Amino acid sequence: KRVGVLMGGWGEEREISLKTGEAVVAALESRGHHVTRVFAGPGLDRALRAAELDVAFLALHGRMGEDGRVQGLLELLELPYTGSGVLASALAMNKPMAKKLFRLHNLPTPQGYRVVRADAARALELHGDLGYPCVVKPALGGSSVGLSVVREPGALAPAVAQACRFGGEALVERFFAGREVTVGILGDTVLGTCEIATPRESFDFDAKYKGGSRYFLPARMSATRVANVESLALAAYRALGCRGYGRVDLLCSDTENDVVLEVNTLPGFTPTSLMPKIAAQAGLDFPELVERVLALATR
Ligand code: DAL
Ligand code: MG
Repeated sequence: KRVGVLMGGWGEEREISLKTGEAVVAALESRGHHVTRVFAGPGLDRALRAAELDVAFLALHGRMGEDGRVQGLLELLELPYTGSGVLASALAMNKPMAKKLFRLHNLPTPQGYRVVRADAARALELHGDLGYPCVVKPALGGSSVGLSVVREPGALAPAVAQACRFGGEALVERFFAGREVTVGILGDTVLGTCEIATPRESFDFDAKYKGGSRYFLPARMSATRVANVESLALAAYRALGCRGYGRVDLLCSDTENDVVLEVNTLPGFTPTSLMPKIAAQAGLDFPELVERVLALATR
């Protein structure tokens, strides 16, 4: 079988995608697969036809690659691909939409609202009783690019405008003081949890990729609590209709309900990424993880 690893892409997470892509290529080659690198960008449809693939491994992150559009192209080309389908990808990438579905399924998630670019100046009106501090992030982004913590009303509109630079809409969320925990899911099974301790205010882009954060596997909590967090994560993954694999980000508080933040349908597979750490803890080394994800490819 000829496997195409799709990497690069259009969005802010392009560099991360290239790292994920190279890690996936190396893993597949180490297992004897015939691999072709396919760089995602304008003309991707032609590149895919020319590559004559049997299956596409998506090493894309963020807008265009993770939001269902590339998945739709692959369906039109009748090529099986890894990870979630068109609708689940689009829902997971759109944080305000995902939040509505979490609420519909009674899954705890921080209170929040969506602001489109044209309304950025009106953010204060929309804010209502949400309070401060609050977190402002691009509604359609990843890797914490464009995210800020806002402590006073005067800083709200500029933060919203900044977040809107990445895709035209922002999500404003109540600040939830909790520990960052992420849950890896393969197929329809939880692989495990990882808790992230960062010296920074939040697990932002630099904390994610420049080191300095500490990881605890499993999360530092009782086995019962870990089981609860895992089932909350699995419920969030299912609420959006995800398949193949994914990583669910949550915040865990010692005084309030744990909350779901988001589902990453194409979680990072870079050398510092969390999903490979979780898989390793579950006894799957990186090439095994990559092969399992590939084996679940469908269309
Ligand atoms: N958005 C990054 C790649 C992640 O979730 O791992
Ligand atoms: Mg994300």
